[in-house]
Amino acid sequence: MGRSGPEVRDIYYRRAKEEGWRARSAFKLLQIDEEVNLFENVERCIDLCAAPGSWSQVVSKRVWASSNKKDRVKIVSVDIQDMAPIDGVVQIKGDITKESTVEEIVKSLGGEQVQLILCDGASDVTGLHDMDEYIQSGLLLSALNVAMRLLEPGGTFLAKFFKGRHAFLTHAQFRVFFSSVQFIKPTSSRSHSMESFIVCERFKLPIGYALKSQALLEEPGEKRTLGGDGLALFVQSGDLSGFDEILGLESNDS
Ligand SMILES: C[S@@+](CC[C@H](N)C(=O)[O-])C[C@H]1O[C@@H](n2cnc3c(N)ncnc32)[C@H](O)[C@@H]1O
Repeated sequence: MGRSGPEVRDIYYRRAKEEGWRARSAFKLLQIDEEVNLFENVERCIDLCAAPGSWSQVVSKRVWASSNKKDRVKIVSVDIQDMAPIDGVVQIKGDITKESTVEEIVKSLGGEQVQLILCDGASDVTGLHDMDEYIQSGLLLSALNVAMRLLEPGGTFLAKFFKGRHAFLTHAQFRVFFSSVQFIKPTSSRSHSMESFIVCERFKLPIGYALKSQALLEEPGEKRTLGGDGLALFVQSGDLSGFDEILGLESNDS
C-alpha cells in the first residue's frame, strides 16, 4: 500500500482537517473499504467505540447520504465518551463490554440485524505489547459478542486488532464464524504500531451453535463447557495449552 510512518501521518492529519473528518482514522476505514468494498448493499450498520466519530462520518456519507431510501437506513454508534451529532446516526453512550449497552443497541435497532459491524476500540496503550494485546482482545471479544447477536448471516465484521504472536489463534477462532478472515494494515496506520484490522466476511453461525447471552464473555478460570456441537468456547487470549483442560470438562448436551 506504499509509504507509511510519521511523514505520511502528518499528511493524513492535514487532509482530515481539510476534508472535515473528525479524526485521521477516517482514512483507515476509507482505505480498507477500497480493498474490500465494505459498504456494498449495507443499509444498517453498528459502529462500536466510535468517538470522536470519523468512522461514523464515513458510514453516514456512504450509507445514509447516498441512499434514496433513507427511512430504511439505520446507523448506531456507541462509545463511552460523548460524541457530537452526525446526520443519520443514532448515538448511544455506553461501555461495549456491558450487557446493558448491548441491550440498548438491540432496542435502537428495533430488533433488526445489521449487515456491517465496525469496532475501532482502543484503550490507553501501556507500551507492554502482551498487555496491550490482551486488553485489546477484550474489546474485540465484546465486539464479536455484539456481532453474534446482531450481525445478519452473510454480514461483515471489521475491528481494530493488535497483531501479536497470537494472531494465528484469533484468525482460527474467527474462521469458525466467518467464511473469510484477513488482517489488513492500511497505509494511514503507523507502520511501527501493532495496530492492524481484522476483516471478517460472510458471517455464519456454525450449525447447532447455541448462542446464549454473553456466552463469549465468560471470565478465564470460569467453568467452561463445550457447545452441543462440540465447539470450544472462544478463548480470549493465551495459547492452546488450555484446550486439554477445556476438553476434560463436561459437555453441556447432558
Ligand atoms: C481510536 S478511538 C475511535 C476513533 C473512531 N473510530 C473515529 O474514527 O473517530 C477509540 C475509542 O474507543 C473507545 N472505547 C474504549 N473502550 C471502550 C468501551 N469499553 N466501550 C465503548 N467505547 C470504548 C474510546 O472511548 C475511544 O473513543
